[in-house]
Amino acid sequence: MTGRVALVTGGTGGIGTAICKRLAAAGHKVATNYRNEEKAKAWQARLRSEGFEIALAKGDVSTAEDAEAMVREVERQVGPVDILVNNAGITRDTTFHRMTSQQWNEVICTNLNSCFNVTRPVIEGMRERKWGRIIQISSINGQKGQYGQANYAAAKAGMHGFTISLAQENARFGITVNTVSPGYIGTDMVMAVPEEVRNKIVAQIPTGRLGEPEEIAYAVSFFIPDEAGWITGANLSANGGQYMGW
Ligand code: CAA
Repeated sequence: MTGRVALVTGGTGGIGTAICKRLAAAGHKVATNYRNEEKAKAWQARLRSEGFEIALAKGDVSTAEDAEAMVREVERQVGPVDILVNNAGITRDTTFHRMTSQQWNEVICTNLNSCFNVTRPVIEGMRERKWGRIIQISSINGQKGQYGQANYAAAKAGMHGFTISLAQENARFGITVNTVSPGYIGTDMVMAVPEEVRNKIVAQIPTGRLGEPEEIAYAVSFFIPDEAGWITGANLSANGGQYMGW
């Protein structure tokens, strides 16, 4: 099965880049959004030099207007979206008693509201065409909570609530909706955690190392083929064994 159109939000980030490459290598037409044009164009040129052609559409997924315009631009460039990976995410880590409403809102809008903002403009087309794949990139910290991440854990847990509701509503239309919950992956986001704190976290990972972005891209690709059509509403943990809750 090739030639589907995939939209990966936040595709220029660490995990996003690996997902874009994996989907493109599988023969899909891949697009991502961006906020900073200069950075995005440089990223696109780098991937092109590696043999990956990824379409770019401007838009901040934290607002509904921007997200809808971005989706329409993706449709114009590569066609209607068959595969949506809600991957865009940020952190604003701090203990809750110090957290500002801005830190709360930025994380909720970018990580959770984005799921509404981007999925809403693609869902009707998927239902009409009777095929779709929607995959939320949540987090181990949405499953177990994390000191310093009340905003992030709330958003990431919310993403799976979104998954299991959408999965029920859209199963009859050939659309599966699933979540991938990465653990600590060696991206800029995790490397921004103070080294001393990070080392303590790595010590709690049974594999004894941070994950690789490609290991998350592999988990995402699992949900896409036609033979994955029976799997919907699942939450796939990819965390090196750090959290094994059901
Ligand atoms: N459990 C219990 N106590 C903890 C703790 C924990 N997990 N983490 C920190 N503390 C304690 C510290 O021991 C310290 O106690 P003392 O004052 O008694 O020494 C106190 O809390 C303050 O800790 P810090 O010195 O670290 O405080 P800070 O204000 O400078 O920073 C923080 C707080 C921002 C939460 C910082 O600890 C931090 O960045 N933690 C990591 C949070 C994290 O894991 N973020 C993940 C980012 S990557 C990501 O999100 C991707 C993904 O999906 C996995």
